[in-house]
Amino acid sequence: MNKQTMTILITGTNRGLGFYLADCFLEEGHTVISLIRSRNNNIKNLKKKYSLRYFIVPCNVTKEKEILRSFHKVRKITPYIDILINNAAVHLEQHKPDIQNINFSCYVPTYKVNSLAPLMIASRFLPLIKAGRTKLIVNISSEAGSIENAYRKTEYSYCMSKAALNMASKMLQNRVKDDGIKVLAIHPGWFSSDMGGVDAPVTPGQAAYRVVKTIQKKWSLSDAIYIDPDGKEMAW
Ligand SMILES: NC(=O)c1ccc[n+]([C@@H]2O[C@H](COP(=O)([O-])OP(=O)(O)OC[C@H]3O[C@@H](n4cnc5c(N)ncnc54)[C@H](OP(=O)(O)O)[C@@H]3O)[C@@H](O)[C@H]2O)c1
Repeated sequence: MNKQTMTILITGTNRGLGFYLADCFLEEGHTVISLIRSRNNNIKNLKKKYSLRYFIVPCNVTKEKEILRSFHKVRKITPYIDILINNAAVHLEQHKPDIQNINFSCYVPTYKVNSLAPLMIASRFLPLIKAGRTKLIVNISSEAGSIENAYRKTEYSYCMSKAALNMASKMLQNRVKDDGIKVLAIHPGWFSSDMGGVDAPVTPGQAAYRVVKTIQKKWSLSDAIYIDPDGKEMAW
């Protein structure tokens, strides 16, 4: 467990898991920078409570120009990032259409947010992560991205996008290993949220607490990349 206070950059923190990840890290005394595309009361309340350690930077994570703009803003806030958490995602096929009824227009937008954006963010923010002490990139993945354990017959867009995110995580780890940066692709478990629905067994707050504890374990570069909420290796 890292006792130093850290600076953590998290995408998509206005609701769901992202909000509680930000809240947990702030509660532990760390500095959090949120990349968000829309402000709401959650964001305003965190800002009110942790005004000196909480920073909000607007960014639609699918837009390269906005990522670049946000990078320049973040660089004015901090010279380093200890942990980058790519959390923002969409699931645009929650109605689970059969293969014969799919509207494929949501596929590329899903891929842009879930697979491409985490890589674009990591690419842009790499100099700040290299300058950090913890040197950790966390991609919030899903069991839905496991090819070996794939059981669904619907929701291709979400599952395919998370499998692609897993590939990006593995390749990124190959690239940044020599800089001492660890990459994790963590399945946070099934929790209630706009994406997870209301039937999930745990709240987003409980899921976030577990993720925060797991990613703060002492990770070495040779450890597993694709892990479950407790840090156990998952099958690709
Ligand atoms: N819920 C589950 O049971 C579950 C299970 C496994 C994995 N996960 C993963 O856990 C993570 C969080 O899921 P969640 O359930 O908390 O989702 P959620 O409640 O639907 O929240 C998604 C977040 O992503 C943001 N976002 C989406 N597109 C964006 C964009 N283009 N630019 C910036 N922000 C964007 C949303 O912001 P806006 O409000 O602006 O849209 C929102 O803050 C995701 O990576 C998800 O795939 C969730």
